[in-house]
Amino acid sequence: MEGRKIRGIWGNKSRGRMHLLLVSVTLNLVLLSGLLYERGRRAFSEEKEQVLPGFCPATEVKKMGSLEVESRISSGRGWTEEGRVQKLSSDSVIINLDHGDPTMFESFWRKTGEKSTIIIPGWEKMSYFSDVRNICWFLEPEFAEEVKELHKLVGNAETEGRHIIVGTGSTQLYQAALFALSPSDAPEPMNVVSATPYYSSYPSVTDFLKSGLYKWAGDAYTFDRDGPYIELVTSPNNPDGFARQPVVNREGGKTIYDLAYYWPQYASITAPADHDLMLFTVSKSTGHAGTRIGWALVKDPEVARRMTKYVELNTIGVSKDSQLRAAKILRAVRGGYEGEQESGDGETLKFFDFGRLLMAERWDRLRDAVRKNPIFSLPEFPTAYCNFAGESGTSHPAFAWLKCEAEHVDDCESFLRSNRILTRSGRQFGGDSRYVRVSMVDRDETFDVLIDRLNIIR
Ligand SMILES: Cc1ncc(COP(=O)(O)O)c(C=O)c1O
Repeated sequence: MEGRKIRGIWGNKSRGRMHLLLVSVTLNLVLLSGLLYERGRRAFSEEKEQVLPGFCPATEVKKMGSLEVESRISSGRGWTEEGRVQKLSSDSVIINLDHGDPTMFESFWRKTGEKSTIIIPGWEKMSYFSDVRNICWFLEPEFAEEVKELHKLVGNAETEGRHIIVGTGSTQLYQAALFALSPSDAPEPMNVVSATPYYSSYPSVTDFLKSGLYKWAGDAYTFDRDGPYIELVTSPNNPDGFARQPVVNREGGKTIYDLAYYWPQYASITAPADHDLMLFTVSKSTGHAGTRIGWALVKDPEVARRMTKYVELNTIGVSKDSQLRAAKILRAVRGGYEGEQESGDGETLKFFDFGRLLMAERWDRLRDAVRKNPIFSLPEFPTAYCNFAGESGTSHPAFAWLKCEAEHVDDCESFLRSNRILTRSGRQFGGDSRYVRVSMVDRDETFDVLIDRLNIIR
């Protein structure tokens, strides 16, 4: 009995211990499996959706509309969770080189500190008006001055005898120019043409409001209608990077020169452009696309007046805050060449030198990768003397006009998409689907992945 009792007590105690042991083991197992599951889940999602700053996980691309993808990618933020950002094998990320978002210049501007920073007190620049004596009454004199100084420094455009019209990007000024050059009493809308491959936004921007004044008429090479027309000449050209001249050259024609890329980092500056209507933008000259400031240099005061009217009716002027920021940025570029601009470590900050070097390096790497891969080819550019740099060189355009040469590829954009590189199809430029436009002005890490990938695609 005693013994049984004792055994019984022992038995109960050991059962209790066994219970405790079992509970503890179970708890540990639950915890451990939880940890393992979480690790596994992360490892799985990392494997499937490796992300770098400026890159987009595959599942997000599927979920988002293309514009949203653009903004999230180009912001380069939001994908940088701790532990997930690392140099990864390039075959698992999607890179988006469809837009020409000039983020590669960020690294330069980071170094310029206060020289490119503005503060605007709450009470300042509240009025609609900037300079009522000027045809363009919303043009900030400070900005106008810097535009003239920058063209003088670079030697890429005549400003003497021109009116400066400021716009919300050169996109607004393009529309203002169409409005200004189209007679308001013509029986038919003006035909608007540009030689293929032309900048892909021209057709949609021209026609999206179905204006009665002008309409998109396509490729300038095949334009054979009589009567007045407007030709858009983009030089250097987007998408293919070549210098351009008008191709229609007929009586009654007017020309808009879109010179967004006529800057030393992209092309040799051979002479100051001297046309009746020229468009420029800080988006491409300094990389400040988000500031949304462009300018037109216009000879004819009547055209300048009508362009001003367009901007007045469209947006009642242009943000003064942005004009002041643009003025400060242009001033900082100039300062670099007047010996004023230095980084913290005493390095002289010359924007165009930085841009030229970086673009040349990128093009060398791209050409090298394309040379080794029989699937692709690139255009060759002539050498020209650059007055600004004081040396001969070739162009390094903001976009690569890449051709898929391989027989098994007849749609280059889809082919690259299947290799997780988003580009813009040649079809969107009035061209053919064996070509794509690839942005050359994204951040370094995106460009590195492009090169890695072009090296292995077969
Ligand atoms: C030839 C050309 N013109 C104009 C623009 C638009 O410039 P903005 O940002 O000033 O509207 C672009 C942008 O890519 C462009 O490539």
